[in-house]
Amino acid sequence: CERQDGKPFRQRLLVVANRLPVSAVRRGEDSWSLEISAGGLVTALLGVKEFEARWIGWAGVNVPDEIGQKALTKALAEKRCIPVFLDEEIVHQYYNGYCNNILWPLFHYLGLPQEDRLATTRSFQSQFAAYKKANQMFADVVNMHYEEGDVVWCHDYHLMYLPECLKKHNTNMKVGWFLHTPFPSSEIHRTLPSRSELLRSVLAADLVGFHTYDYARHFVSACTRILGFEGTPEGVEDQGRLTRVAAFPIGIDSERFIRALELPQVQEHIKDLKERFSGRKVMLGVDRLDMIKGIPQKILAFEKFLEENPYWRDKVVLLQIAVPTRTDVPEYQKLTSQVHEIVGRINGRFGSLTAVPIHHLDRSLDFQALCALYAVTDVALVTSLRDGMNLVSYEFVACQDAKKGVLILSEFAGAAQSLGAGAILVNPWNITEVAASISQALNMSAEERKKRHQHNFHHVTSHTAQEWAETFVSELNDTVVEAKLRISK
Ligand code: ADP
Ligand code: F6P
Repeated sequence: CERQDGKPFRQRLLVVANRLPVSAVRRGEDSWSLEISAGGLVTALLGVKEFEARWIGWAGVNVPDEIGQKALTKALAEKRCIPVFLDEEIVHQYYNGYCNNILWPLFHYLGLPQEDRLATTRSFQSQFAAYKKANQMFADVVNMHYEEGDVVWCHDYHLMYLPECLKKHNTNMKVGWFLHTPFPSSEIHRTLPSRSELLRSVLAADLVGFHTYDYARHFVSACTRILGFEGTPEGVEDQGRLTRVAAFPIGIDSERFIRALELPQVQEHIKDLKERFSGRKVMLGVDRLDMIKGIPQKILAFEKFLEENPYWRDKVVLLQIAVPTRTDVPEYQKLTSQVHEIVGRINGRFGSLTAVPIHHLDRSLDFQALCALYAVTDVALVTSLRDGMNLVSYEFVACQDAKKGVLILSEFAGAAQSLGAGAILVNPWNITEVAASISQALNMSAEERKKRHQHNFHHVTSHTAQEWAETFVSELNDTVVEAKLRISK
């Protein structure tokens, strides 16, 4: 098997993630169209080109009939994707329920949804049962496609039960698991009713990876405090069996963004945007419309900035592009209305007949439009309340080599550890501080912007998605070899 550039692939990789890189839209009984899925996991993994990868996951749609399933399986095969078909009830209990209403807020330190707390506690058992069932369904598909020597790389909080399911079936399978969110302090993880079962099943993997050293440390202390296992510099040990645990900070395919800026269509977009916003500084937010992204907090900080800086009122515009996500979960529905309400109020307060200070779009932008927008931005605002890494901050930096704009970045995003020296770091909960940082960014000298940008650009272009995957997979290969040697001694 060969790559596009004619060189041989390094290894066969089965990537298993809840969501496939494409989501399916039904066009007829047996016809489907495929759209690229939004999210950091997809962005990063699409940047990994040197493995012969097959991707196993859910296509984001319920397909109850055999004709539809067959046609979708065929359409996905052309993209090297293999579907796991989940019915509506499983999606409701596993994805909307256990994954996105329980694990997601918990792992981001947001607790359980306030008014639903009791209801969530009551439905917990059935949701956890659905979670395990869904994980087993993923495992069944992996087992069907696995060939000896494959590396099986499981991703994210949706699939914490998967390593155990896979190893039960085949102890020789090389299994890695990587978390794309923060892993919270063990004090938070302790509150989860299924805390031990989840940790044990993740530990069935050979290698467990996180974005930052802190997340890895939290995981190891959860294993020592909750399970009583031993934490070692290599990972977690139980009765002589070691699970290697380490940090593997993710990156992007920076070259793809840099090259895109040269395309005539992107240049055309850039020209249009410059004309459209001429005479105004452009501030940008690009997020999934998720409560962890701190979108209401960001907009309120922008309001405070306008309040305190009348000079800037007609000289700056905030473009907030927020792609809707997990729209069946009530908390996300509430967030959408909340954001619309705040934006409407601020535009009413500071807008004029000809201009508004905030342009808020509930939609996804295509890749070229996104690159153009990053390139014309003066200040990017990434104000996540918590975020595993946050790749939007990396994408912005990659597109800014000409302009050298400023990145305002939450100290609670994993990216703060890599881009902190170049960005202005803020506590997103402190609206006064964020407003002051907007002022600092808009008034920053060209020389300081250049210095900060160069630091970040160097990081983003030298820590790529490909390198991230290579490091993880080679560490996984080595870990398995070392474990075999230990056993044979
Ligand atoms: P998360 O994984 O939580 O969504 P990241 O910042 O790591 O957060 O990754 C988000 C990815 O989704 C980025 O690649 C970004 O370009 C893409 N994305 C987010 N919002 C939009 C949007 N409105 N339009 C297009 N792409 C988006
Ligand atoms: O980063 C966390 C994450 O769950 C990723 O796995 C995924 O890229 C993103 O959020 C999108 O979420 P969903 O698949 O629920 O739309």
